[in-house]
Amino acid sequence: MAKPLTQFVCSECGATSPRWLGRCPSCGQFNTMAEEMTSPALSSAPNKPRRTAKARPLSEISYEKYDRTPSGISEFDNVLGGGIVSGSLVLLGGDPGIGKSTLLTQIAAHLSEEHKVLYVSAEESCSQVKMRAQRLGVKCGNMLLLNETNIDNLDAELDGVEFCVIDSIQAVYTEDLSSSAGSVGQVRECAAKLMRIAKSRNITFFIIGHVTKEGALAGPKVLEHIMDAVLYFEGENQENFRILRAVKNRFGNVAEVGVFEMTETGIVAVTDYSGIFLSESRGEEAGSAVTPARTGARCMNVEIQTLVSKTAFGLPRRMPLGIDYNKLVLLIAVLEKRCGLNLGGYDVYVNAMGGIKLGEPACDLAVCAALASSCFGEPIDKYTAVFGEVGLTGEVRAVSYCEKRVAECVKMGFKRVLLPAKNMKSVVKYADRITVVPVLYVGTMIKSLFKQDK
Ligand SMILES: Nc1ncnc2c1ncn2[C@@H]1O[C@H](COP(=O)(O)OP(=O)(O)O)[C@@H](O)[C@H]1O
Ligand SMILES: [Mg+2]
Repeated sequence: MAKPLTQFVCSECGATSPRWLGRCPSCGQFNTMAEEMTSPALSSAPNKPRRTAKARPLSEISYEKYDRTPSGISEFDNVLGGGIVSGSLVLLGGDPGIGKSTLLTQIAAHLSEEHKVLYVSAEESCSQVKMRAQRLGVKCGNMLLLNETNIDNLDAELDGVEFCVIDSIQAVYTEDLSSSAGSVGQVRECAAKLMRIAKSRNITFFIIGHVTKEGALAGPKVLEHIMDAVLYFEGENQENFRILRAVKNRFGNVAEVGVFEMTETGIVAVTDYSGIFLSESRGEEAGSAVTPARTGARCMNVEIQTLVSKTAFGLPRRMPLGIDYNKLVLLIAVLEKRCGLNLGGYDVYVNAMGGIKLGEPACDLAVCAALASSCFGEPIDKYTAVFGEVGLTGEVRAVSYCEKRVAECVKMGFKRVLLPAKNMKSVVKYADRITVVPVLYVGTMIKSLFKQDK
């Protein structure tokens, strides 16, 4: 069979070239040419009917309810929106060594009790996978194992398979392209092939993708548009806690996160996550504030720690971890202008505990409280939580899910919660269990939390 024709396409401007080039002749960008298969032009098939789809009213369209299979790990199901949807493509991304293979070995083993599961290991030998499975102590006698890097050979092995794990997409290749495994073109083409198999044969694929620094290897980012769900496994390698986040999900809420712990016997879902995002020394040191943050359908109390220190060289640094950089700059400006805090000559470091990412505006007020605490050198009481959105004028605006947040504070034994005045109505019923302090402006929050006004 003749080899399909390929060309190199610039990922920035779309210019094409028959050869690989280091620099795109059209837009001048370096390292943007990736190999792709040339699609046969429409004009070469003049007799082919152009239109196949016809527009129909929505009311006439029938649909099947998604068939969901539990993975055996409830946190994983939660993140997927209630189980694995059959025939879907799920990408699991994360740093090397974070535990992607471990998690999917556990899930594949659970699924193999009732379904036909194929684990394609392109990175490790079959004996390595078996060793891991034994260390994890999972029952996986029925799980099929294949050590294969050529994706074109996969077809024959997929008869009757319902779930398939590809470990990893950067290690597999297709013969259609001449570039090496792991290049942008290969990763994209392999994923497209898997998608065609998934949709035509109703096989669910879990695809592992390493998140790499910018370089020769193509990360999962280039695949996101093909996938039904894209999950990222995050966490510090030194810490045992891992957070699984969905950044895209066609069948569920993307705000949902799963909390896991890496143990000797594999990855275990943490169901009592209440204390993970809080430190031991909370309430003793200045610079930390607790906020009930919403992640998907639930709320958890997260500690925000800040450090304000004198700038050594000219321009002050702003270093947020877990919150948005622009948001931090904005909140610092509000504190300076509306509350008279002097942060201009200070470096500011902010960290959301436990490596969680806080994206919602409801955390603004807690960041302000932590910064003010660090500025004044006055700790905030251990049993006080703060939440609310901060506007540019310094007003504290109402947030959603207020009741849930206060309920979480009550559950965790907090004694006082500062919240937007406009949210007061919905939480009156908690007044006998927790002191609710309505806040109208950031300045009011500072006055009620700290003794001094600098
Ligand atoms: N023998 C072992 N005992 C305990 N933990 C181990 C052992 N071998 C590997 N691990 C843990 O498993 C992690 C690697 O998991 P793995 O699933 O292979 O990562 P990934 O597939 O994401 O690269 C390591 O970071 C380590 O914490
Ligand atoms: Mg691995």
